[in-house]
Amino acid sequence: MPFLCVNVDHVATIRQARLGVEPDPVTAAAMCELAGAVGIIMHLREDRRHVQDRDIDLISKTIQTEFHFEMAATEEMQQIALRVDPATVCLVPEKREELTTEGGLNCIGQEKRLTEYLAPLHEKGIGSSLFIDADANQIKAAKAIGAEYVEIHTGHFADAPTRSEQKAELARIIDGIKMSQDLGLKVNLGHGLNYVNILDFADVPGICEYSIGHSIMSRSIYVGIDRAVRDMVEIIRNFTD
Ligand code: PXP
Repeated sequence: MPFLCVNVDHVATIRQARLGVEPDPVTAAAMCELAGAVGIIMHLREDRRHVQDRDIDLISKTIQTEFHFEMAATEEMQQIALRVDPATVCLVPEKREELTTEGGLNCIGQEKRLTEYLAPLHEKGIGSSLFIDADANQIKAAKAIGAEYVEIHTGHFADAPTRSEQKAELARIIDGIKMSQDLGLKVNLGHGLNYVNILDFADVPGICEYSIGHSIMSRSIYVGIDRAVRDMVEIIRNFTD
């Protein structure tokens, strides 16, 4: 059965709107766990626009499931990851002006640098994932880098303006999943997934985890975090293994 990991960055975004103490993403993370999430994801951006260093420190000390640390491949983030010791790091591209992560990491031509970047994290027993587009050359490069997981970017699928374009993106992602699995990579999916579009993946076998933030936190405004997470867990529970 695939599992749900919840990204709680959006809770921090609301808190930072007033630069105060509420809502607290650490409290939200505990509630997500109680509702059935198997992991909590946080992205500490270089500009600290939502998640703060204090959140990363507290999450890593308090959650009882797995902490997945999303980060850019910078020296600063590597040092933080080594200190807080997450279950995995997920390397993502980061642009200052973007609203959210816009596309996958470019692994092509970065094989040596990223292999060396991940080496001290692997030595410490921290797992690794690369957030990439469903592109054959990116997948081959991810394999060469030696990450355990790829997280295939579903944002273009989620944002496709027509159903036929969405179907084309879906087909591309499914090909990418299959190719990654054939190369021995474990596959997660994330970005832009919601309670409706996720159903397109119901029959796709071998997905390990879905990484979802925005749609769950949006629904939680209406029904509460507990119900919003449980609703998504219930959907995923019925998916093909
Ligand atoms: N995976 C990655 C790598 C992301 O950057 C994000 C957004 O923070 C997500 C998953 C979750 O995306 P969403 O908030 O659209 O569910």
